[in-house]
Amino acid sequence: MTVQSDVLLSLQNVHVAYDGIIAALRGVSLEVKKGSIVALLGGNGAGKTTTLKAASGLLAAERGAVTVGNVLYQGRDSAHRDPRELVKAGLSQVLEGRHCFPHFSVEENLIAGALVRRPCRAELARKLDRVYQQFPKLKARRYSLAGLTSGGEQQMVAIGRALMAEPALLLLDEPSMGLAPLIIEEIFEIVKDLQTDDGVSVLLAEQNATLALRYADHGYVLENGRVCISGTGAQLAAREDVKEFYLGVERRGPGENRFSRMRARRRPAHAESVSS
Ligand SMILES: Nc1ncnc2c1ncn2[C@@H]1O[C@H](COP(=O)(O)OP(=O)(O)OP(=O)(O)O)[C@@H](O)[C@H]1O
Ligand SMILES: [Mg+2]
Repeated sequence: MTVQSDVLLSLQNVHVAYDGIIAALRGVSLEVKKGSIVALLGGNGAGKTTTLKAASGLLAAERGAVTVGNVLYQGRDSAHRDPRELVKAGLSQVLEGRHCFPHFSVEENLIAGALVRRPCRAELARKLDRVYQQFPKLKARRYSLAGLTSGGEQQMVAIGRALMAEPALLLLDEPSMGLAPLIIEEIFEIVKDLQTDDGVSVLLAEQNATLALRYADHGYVLENGRVCISGTGAQLAAREDVKEFYLGVERRGPGENRFSRMRARRRPAHAESVSS
């Protein structure tokens, strides 16, 4: 008898090293349940991108490797699978920094995302229609060179291209980077619609923790390659320490400044969960 799990992605005690020596992850465990949005928070260099790449099989391209632990997508090892096979199996990643083909039109960029599934012409047209429903702005710019569109539109192209492969799990790396607040909000609303209308699960790395926790069902805070806090989006958003260090809300005592508080900060010795 096969038991259907509601966990789509699971990382179990994952360690990652680059060039065989640079320890980027030091025992990360996390789960993405089917149909959920999960936020991966933390400062620069905490290990967010590395975690996403460990899940999508993209570490090898950077001379990185999972050295200890398991990465399971739909119950199967994904750390050592060909990334194209993972895309076919429904796991797509949008890389940090938007990465469009600047000299191709918006529509050509989108079509490139579908090629892994070798769709027929009618199927391709159906997928394009669906992405244009989700991103009406892209339909208006469909024949423009992607490199000449705005930053927000390029982020939409990058997400739209991933959606052309019809993912079950979308990995998003800093979708808000360098964008104006209104555009960021628009992109997060689209991500929410993907979850509610299409049942897509999302693991998103974000430095904009305030916004990410507003949309996330669950969140993990990474520090130095370890999960230091985890909990539901609401639990994390309510925690004073998370607010202070990751949401930019400061509690200062007399004579203290942001830096004296940071120096006094104690790093948790073990991963801490507020979810149970
Ligand atoms: N290709 C690489 N080669 C060597 N070290 C790397 C490589 N990529 C990342 N690292 C190191 O791994 C650690 C985690 O980096 P990572 O990019 O995963 O962090 P991040 O949380 O995504 O940071 P940011 O918010 O700046 O994007 C850092 O110490 C970084 O210097
Ligand atoms: Mg990163």
